[in-house]
Amino acid sequence: MPQAKKNHSAQNQSELPFVLAITGASGAIYGMRLLQYLMEVGQPVDLLVSRAALRVMFEEHDLSFGEDLKGGLLRYLELPDTVPLKVHSLTDYGASVASGSYRTRGMAVVPCSLGTLGALASGLTENLIHRAAAVTLKERRTLLILVREMPFGHIQLKNMLALSEAGAVVSCASPGYYHRPQTVSDQVDFVVGRVLDQFDFDNKLFKRWKEDSRPIQQNKSPNKEHEGTKS
Ligand SMILES: Cc1cc2nc3c(=O)[nH]c(=O)nc-3n(C[C@H](O)[C@H](O)[C@H](O)COP(=O)(O)O)c2cc1C
Repeated sequence: MPQAKKNHSAQNQSELPFVLAITGASGAIYGMRLLQYLMEVGQPVDLLVSRAALRVMFEEHDLSFGEDLKGGLLRYLELPDTVPLKVHSLTDYGASVASGSYRTRGMAVVPCSLGTLGALASGLTENLIHRAAAVTLKERRTLLILVREMPFGHIQLKNMLALSEAGAVVSCASPGYYHRPQTVSDQVDFVVGRVLDQFDFDNKLFKRWKEDSRPIQQNKSPNKEHEGTKS
């Protein structure tokens, strides 16, 4: 079974860009919160957003970006336009992330729809998300997918197994409760924090098991409409 290799070459991992794809599963908040965190810590990001993800952002957050996806996202996430963010068109197969020679820290698909899951498991490259993920796998870099669906059908379970066997980190949007979340933002941060763990980001988005200190980066989630909501 292929293993993702940790890239310990001359260039520091944290200097390499991170590829983030947001696809059309419910839970756009996970992808946006992940992006917000990465921008706040100065991590360069190559962002890929599917058309279905834009629809979900509208349905879940009333977000509508028109032609200015980058500007709209930065405004919503309250980030300055100086952050190291590149947004790619999904039809641009000439983009940096389409090539294995463009070195990256890895890639996360958050959230990952069952459609994208199927494409990745079968090696399809019908858009730049699929291509970037295939590149990440073939280069033995960390590829994490955060699937959101319930229940899972047999085909999706087989697709997840295939991707895991190919070296991907397969996870699902499944917040824990042992850290006693008080708000939806706490639940989102738990999931996003566990995603970041897979890429060795020393994050404090949630209270870890047997850790005494309270989370120090809570309540900055873009999920503003749910802050303070008992969950
Ligand atoms: C509001 C909304 C919620 C959705 N939730 C999910 C979901 O949780 N999981 C999923 O696999 N697809 C979900 N879908 C369907 C996907 O968006 C659809 O299958 C789409 O083709 C995925 O395309 P993409 O993988 O290119 O983003 C949802 C669609 C909408 C509009």
